[in-house]
Amino acid sequence: MKHFLKETDFKRAELPKLFALARELKLKRGKKNAPKPLQGQTWAMIFSKSSTRTRVSFEVGIHELGGNPLFLNRNDIQLGRGETIEDTAQVLSRFVHGLIVRTFDHSDVERLAATGSVPVVNALTDFLHPCQIYSDAFTLAERWTKGTTGAKLVDSLRGRKIAFLGDTACNMANSWILGANLFGMKISLSGPKEFAPSAEFNAALAKEGYAGGYQFTTDPFEAVRGADVVYTDVWVSMGKEEETKERIRVMSPYAVTGKLFAAAKRDSLFMHCLPAHAGEEVMQEVLDSPRSIIFDEAENRLHMQKAILAAIVAARK
Ligand code: CP
Ligand code: NVA
Repeated sequence: MKHFLKETDFKRAELPKLFALARELKLKRGKKNAPKPLQGQTWAMIFSKSSTRTRVSFEVGIHELGGNPLFLNRNDIQLGRGETIEDTAQVLSRFVHGLIVRTFDHSDVERLAATGSVPVVNALTDFLHPCQIYSDAFTLAERWTKGTTGAKLVDSLRGRKIAFLGDTACNMANSWILGANLFGMKISLSGPKEFAPSAEFNAALAKEGYAGGYQFTTDPFEAVRGADVVYTDVWVSMGKEEETKERIRVMSPYAVTGKLFAAAKRDSLFMHCLPAHAGEEVMQEVLDSPRSIIFDEAENRLHMQKAILAAIVAARK
């Protein structure tokens, strides 16, 4: 069974085809010849956290692939009243063709995948956000190949450098480290030392064969030197709200200001998974820069996730 719980659930050799499919689906969107591999299928979306981009892009994407999305807020189903993940997985597997899950504990998605009999897609956990990283990488590949299709898309990522600033222990940082290693990119992270990638993450990285596959520095200017991409995320991820004051205090030296962005490569791009807090992790002038590609990356959630679902369905046949 093909699941997509982490970046490495697609092998490097599968990526050219996946990226080419995302491009094809983007070009064929709304056209008569648009593929409909989810025809007759219902996919449940179990969300335990808020979402704009992920929820809407999956709902629209499933419709466009011919399927039916079924949005389930965790608190509206018995899972929210204590029914086990294992029973939920087995019951839903009798009704639907796949599960798209946004949750806190990463082990939730692993347990759903282990006990259910349908594919599970990680729509964000506290640990990883792989759909975002694939969409981001596709966005960069489109830029760097100027719209090519096929294998060149993925090849264009190789050797490029991304700098990740701020909360370097969050799901986006973890996912970008895994993604950068998978795509053959270099990654430098910079944030307060107490927010360096966790021991739990380092162990997971080693298990993937990527031990030590990143650089960490407390100097943000060192991190962005020579970077092709400057990336940041909110300082207060969902579930960390009570730490807001302290996080803002320690992370403020890592805000992406115009000065910091200017210290990266001249043609570097700015990215943010969104939602952004202008004036905290990034300044408005950077969000508004012509080299900010935040809305292209948001749009590409739709195209890449459609490709991921199509690839998962094709793998079942
Ligand atoms: N980037 C992202 O996942 O956004 P949402 O939380 O709005 O889904
Ligand atoms: N790190 C953020 C990402 C939001 C898309 C969070 O988990 O809230």
